[in-house]
Amino acid sequence: MDDKDLMALAVEARERAYAPYSGFAVGAALLGSDGRVWQGCNIENVAFGPTVCAERVAFFKAVSEGVRAFDAIAIAGGPAGEGIAPFTSPCGVCRQVMREFCEDGFRIILGDADGGLRIYTLADLLPASFG
Ligand code: THU
Repeated sequence: MDDKDLMALAVEARERAYAPYSGFAVGAALLGSDGRVWQGCNIENVAFGPTVCAERVAFFKAVSEGVRAFDAIAIAGGPAGEGIAPFTSPCGVCRQVMREFCEDGFRIILGDADGGLRIYTLADLLPASFG
């Protein structure tokens, strides 16, 4: 599973986003160290607070199935019904969830509509973290 293929699965997951309030649809594809991929999309709620991001849906699907070792996540976001916006980056809460289960070198893959990729590590996006 290369980075481009993982991003394609994030784009696919994004099609299932439930985002009627923000209108911002996000998909994520989380690569486990065993090679399995866990997809997630954001799921919003009329009460706003229960909303969950695509990344956390992917993590919680995997962890709830007994998987706790991960290599990378690809993220694709943008206005619903449009192509992906450039390089949608994970929110702080999702970064802390990554910190719970991933090493500093965990790779976070962001993309744009032209197939461009920007690759960060968890340590890049959550320096001096609490854990
Ligand atoms: N969102 C994600 O799913 N992941 C991110 O990385 C950023 C934000 C969602 C939350 C909410 O449903 C919508 O995008 C707008 O913030």
